[in-house]
Amino acid sequence: MAPSGGDRIPEAGFWDLFDVFYKDDDLLSFNSSGLENDLRKFLFGQHIAAETILKAVSWFMKDPDPPKPLVLSFHGPTGVGKSYVTKIIARNIYKMGGKSNHVHTFISDYHFPHTCEAETHEFQLRQWIHGNVSSFPQSMFIFDEMDKMQPRLIDAIKPFLDYNDNVDGVSFNKAIFIFLSNAGGHIITNVTLDFWRKGNNREKLQLQSEGMETQIFKYLFNDENNGLWHSSLINQHLIDHYIPFLPLEQKHVHQCVMAEMVHLNITPDYDVADKVARDMPFFPEEEKIFAVKGCKSVKQKLVWRQI
Ligand SMILES: Nc1ncnc2c1ncn2[C@@H]1O[C@H](COP(=O)(O)OP(=O)(O)O)[C@@H](O)[C@H]1O
Ligand SMILES: [Mg+2]
Repeated sequence: MAPSGGDRIPEAGFWDLFDVFYKDDDLLSFNSSGLENDLRKFLFGQHIAAETILKAVSWFMKDPDPPKPLVLSFHGPTGVGKSYVTKIIARNIYKMGGKSNHVHTFISDYHFPHTCEAETHEFQLRQWIHGNVSSFPQSMFIFDEMDKMQPRLIDAIKPFLDYNDNVDGVSFNKAIFIFLSNAGGHIITNVTLDFWRKGNNREKLQLQSEGMETQIFKYLFNDENNGLWHSSLINQHLIDHYIPFLPLEQKHVHQCVMAEMVHLNITPDYDVADKVARDMPFFPEEEKIFAVKGCKSVKQKLVWRQI
């Protein structure tokens, strides 16, 4: 939806009726087992993220009067499903899924390049969020590359994320904010690698294993190079869950290839998928256990093979 002002003039009469109809039109009645099935079926190798997201989103969607909006922060290396999960969540909330007019994605470097006036952006961003939530309370906002976002802009959205009955007459408590970043990805990778080297089963890795959650939190709090550090989002506890996405192994890339074959209307072929997965680069140098790009270029590899 195009940016819209928060100071919209209320319309009356017939348009009120239209508004009521319009407001609910894109919402599905939320069913946590639908989300659970989707996560189990379509998200590979992310047991911690799947479990945390299922609990957090279900709890939030079932609360008729949440005290604050749901704020999730996804962390992890590239290509491991962070953006992809936002689409899974969206299609369990909106009929139009990720294509819904109520799902808004911001890519910090694209929408708010550092070269431009921060003040103008602060104002626009506030107006945009305020306007969208005032016309549709259950709006979803995805901030990609959150770690590259200007701290002033992060601070600008803070009032919307907090425990507030309303901000300028609008309640934000039904909105969902999801922050995506690679920040802390190296910690998650190191912990997962360590766990693997000790011969543990990956599925036994938990949020608290080897102090992973605390380590991520400390890193975000102490590293001056990421935008989150400069903002007061973290120390004001406005983020409900920090969710780690693990680096993917070859078997997960294989699953991604098989899924992409279905998606591309190619008959799924286990051996071809095996070959495509094996052709991907893996790290670290000795063990070659994790996919450098996750599942990121799986589609291109498959399309390339078809030509
Ligand atoms: N864990 C995963 N399970 C299933 N598909 C995945 C997973 N990770 C990545 N993919 C596939 O790879 C593509 C790129 O992943 P994406 O979610 O954009 O990565 P990022 O973590 O960098 O946001 C997705 O669109 C999806 O098709
Ligand atoms: Mg992404």
